[in-house]
Formats: sequence, C-alpha cells, structure tokens
Amino acid sequence: MKRINLGEVWLNVEERGQGSPLLLVHGFPLDHTMWSEQIEGLSSHFRVIAPDLRGFGHSDAGKQPLTMDRFADDLAALLDALEISVPLVYCGLSMGGYVGWRFMERYGDRVKQLIQCDTRAAADSPQAAKTRRETAERVRREGQAVVAQSMKAKLFAPETAENNPDIVAAMESVMLATPRETIAGALVGMAERPDSTKDLSQIKVPTLLLVGEHDAITPPQEMRQLVKDLPKSRLIEIPAAGHMAPLESPAAVNAAILEFLNS
Ligand code: MLT
Repeated sequence: MKRINLGEVWLNVEERGQGSPLLLVHGFPLDHTMWSEQIEGLSSHFRVIAPDLRGFGHSDAGKQPLTMDRFADDLAALLDALEISVPLVYCGLSMGGYVGWRFMERYGDRVKQLIQCDTRAAADSPQAAKTRRETAERVRREGQAVVAQSMKAKLFAPETAENNPDIVAAMESVMLATPRETIAGALVGMAERPDSTKDLSQIKVPTLLLVGEHDAITPPQEMRQLVKDLPKSRLIEIPAAGHMAPLESPAAVNAAILEFLNS
C-alpha cells in the first residue's frame, strides 16, 4: 500500500504485480478492498493498480463536490504520478463505471480495453437525483448508517448473504468507516453526472461488460442495452452474484477478465 501525492490530495493505492497496467476503480460507498480477489488473482498477470478514490478508504477528501469528472481527473493524475504512459485496461464497478465513462471521454487515448461491471451509462432520473440529494442531507445529519443500511440490503445476491456473511460484514464496515462528507459529496456528484449514453458509440476499444445475475441496482436487462450501444462490446452475466459480482463470484469474474484480456 502506498500514498501518492497528487498536489491537492494524497491518494491511497494498492499496487501489485508487473506487466500491462490494469486499473481497478471501486464503487460507492466502498474502497479498493472490494477488489481484493482481483488484486490477488490477477496480479500474477498484470500490474494491478487499485486506488481509493478521493475521500474514500485512506485517501484524502480534498475539494467537493465529488463529481465523476473530478474522480477521472484524479485517476489521470495518479497514472502520471506512477509514470504510466502506456495504454491501460480500465475496470470500474458501478460508480467506478460512471467515472469510467468520464475517463473515456477525457482520457480515452490512455485506455486500450475497457471493463465495466454492474453499472449503467444513463444519468439519474430527476426523481432519483432528488432522492440522492435528500439522502445526502440525511447522511450529513444522521451519519453513514443511513446509506450503509439501505446499500447492504441491495449489494449482494441472496446466496451471498446466506453463504458468505463475512464479505457482507466487511463491506458494511467499509461503508460505516467512510466519512459522512464523502458519502454526501459522492451522492451529489452522482446526481449531477451527465448522461453518457450518447457517448457510447464513440468508444471504439474492446469492452467487456459484467453483471451479477441478481444485481438489484444495475440489473442484467439494463446492461443488455449497453451491448447494443457500445460498438465492440460483449456482456457476461455472472451466475448467483449480485451487484458486487467481483467479490461474490471472484473465480467467474477473474476467468471472464482473463479470457477477455488474452483474446
Ligand atoms: C455503486 O455501487 O457504486 C452505487 O450503487 C452506484 C449508485 O448508487 O448509483
């Protein structure tokens, strides 16, 4: 684990392995530990770089609001600080996927392959954005548990909750440890994010879409639409997994990633 100075903030980064860089960008309101199985399983093939986005995990908070563009800029600055100039593989989950669309828009020439897990390209509906802003206010007043409770119920497939309570508990601890200002700031940032659907036809790099069969937040039927909009994409559904497919079914997810990157 190391901390990288980006000027305004220091980011916490787990970096393991050698070779072609693979950037793993976590979801909300989590940190890089949601990728623990990919860091473990893929670092014998790639130089895996798994940062905590600003405000999350052990990274500094810095300026608000926590927009998807600001996160994308941080990632580009991180790559510069790590002296990574070769094109890399960007892999994001959910909010990490929202950041991924903005990264493609702003720094697409730095990406040779894209992996988007359990995410969507559409912006929030006006009602969803309003609810996020209200939730942000509640988190500021009442604390992290407001979001941790509701997310915990939606993040995992029923099988995971029953058979793997340890990973549910681990992610709950991460959510409860995330500063309330970060949770509130990222909720506002997500509410403000633009609709990326119109940009998808411009993404020319090979793209792998992954989704848990039981994802209750970004369900498979929504991700199937992305395949139609992304010129060089394919979708793999991960059986018996939910929104946190990489953590719930790491063997299937790692095999899908390796097969995609080696093909
Ligand atoms: C995430 O997992 O990053 C969140 O579910 C994204 C969202 O709330 O839209």
